[in-house]
Amino acid sequence: MIERIPISALPERAGAEARIAGFVVVVRVLKHVIFAVVQDRSGQVQVTIERGGDDETALRLTPGSAVTVRGLVAMNPSVKLGGIEVIVSELDIVGPAEPELPIQEESASELQLDWRFLALRRPRNRLVFEVQTTVLRAMRQYWAEHGFLELQSPKLMESASESGAETFSTPYFELGRAYLAQSPQFYKQMAMAAGFERVFEVGPVFRAEPSMTPRHATEFTSVDVEISWIESHEDVMRMEEEWLRHVLATVRAEHGTAIEREFGVQVCVPSVPFPAVTMAEAHAWLREVGHVIPAVTKAGDIDPEGERLIARRMLEERGSEFVFITEYPVSLRPFYHMRDGGVTRSFDLLWKGTEITTGAQREHRFEQLARQAEEAGLGGSVAYYLDFFRYGCPPHGGFGLGLARLLMLMLGLPSIREAVFLHRSPNRLRP
Ligand code: 4AD
Ligand code: MG
Repeated sequence: MIERIPISALPERAGAEARIAGFVVVVRVLKHVIFAVVQDRSGQVQVTIERGGDDETALRLTPGSAVTVRGLVAMNPSVKLGGIEVIVSELDIVGPAEPELPIQEESASELQLDWRFLALRRPRNRLVFEVQTTVLRAMRQYWAEHGFLELQSPKLMESASESGAETFSTPYFELGRAYLAQSPQFYKQMAMAAGFERVFEVGPVFRAEPSMTPRHATEFTSVDVEISWIESHEDVMRMEEEWLRHVLATVRAEHGTAIEREFGVQVCVPSVPFPAVTMAEAHAWLREVGHVIPAVTKAGDIDPEGERLIARRMLEERGSEFVFITEYPVSLRPFYHMRDGGVTRSFDLLWKGTEITTGAQREHRFEQLARQAEEAGLGGSVAYYLDFFRYGCPPHGGFGLGLARLLMLMLGLPSIREAVFLHRSPNRLRP
């Protein structure tokens, strides 16, 4: 049996026999001939089956079926799809598809999610994951070149890792209850106390948030970074922007053309440093343009529409898709952020008007941190975390970035649901 080749390599075999394998995309049965389009990971090609004689197998072809095909590779300018066809000598339906596929390209989005594996067969959806693979490789390349260690921290915890209200919990043997990690926050800080100096983790986190927005999931992949020996959160911001610049430059070089073709957006490589505005400045601007922050927003915070307005202004005035917002008030930040005269040494990073990152310098001084934990009503439940700071801990800081948010904004997708393999939300647990 001749070896299977990817469809993209067919032109090199023009005039010779080849074997390919993939999914049937469409079938057209004519009087003398049956045409089908077959797709594998590398592309699509027309296969042509001449009728007469024994065409029983070909007549059983259905869209979606997994097939192997052997035949003569012929250059044929009249074939719309790449001017090439495979004239079939052998056809095997190794995985037949039922006659009616349950979704079409134009089906409602909930139905697309029910049949996600079929939706993912579309080349456009495959591209999302090709880009994600490149994004992660570029991130890791940066970390490898800058002396970072990779963490895999546990997702089952004795206490909540961000705020008590939004945690999932489960019974846990004799120990009572375990909580699903909302972020690797405590453990990446433990790595600073362990002297690792620079760490990253790419892993699942869980948030029991009832939010049903296009930006939220109850489980998502968090990209976390933490570094030691910083002077302030600004060192973290400088590192993050260099890292993102590298990631975007890599994506643009490898997929810029395909992204523009499939999604109609350009991947711009940002210049650094990214512009930054303080919370106080941001609020003053919003007042100036008459934006009223809705009452449901936490006191002192900015609503998503306000964030979009700030982003638009930064794009117009500074030509930047990215903007840092800094100096968040203590009341809006978790207890572990370092405080500095009434505000925190922290930042959010907005891309195209949506938050992709929260970061900060952490409080590393034991007495101060213990006091802040106490004030937040945490005390005993985080005793093991406070221990990290009792035997010498360097000043440190870091950030968390939502991988799906990054992809969604990069590709201009309308929802995070289209930027992940499978979405988890309050009303969706399957497939
Ligand atoms: O802003 P968050 O909650 O910050 C933390 O988890 C801190 N421990 C980070 C730190 O190091 N200080 O989450 C970080 C990022 C957000 O900016 C957002 O991109 C993403 O994670 N994110 C979500 N993505 C999808 N669904 C959700 N429900 C998300 N919540 C946060
Ligand atoms: Mg945040």
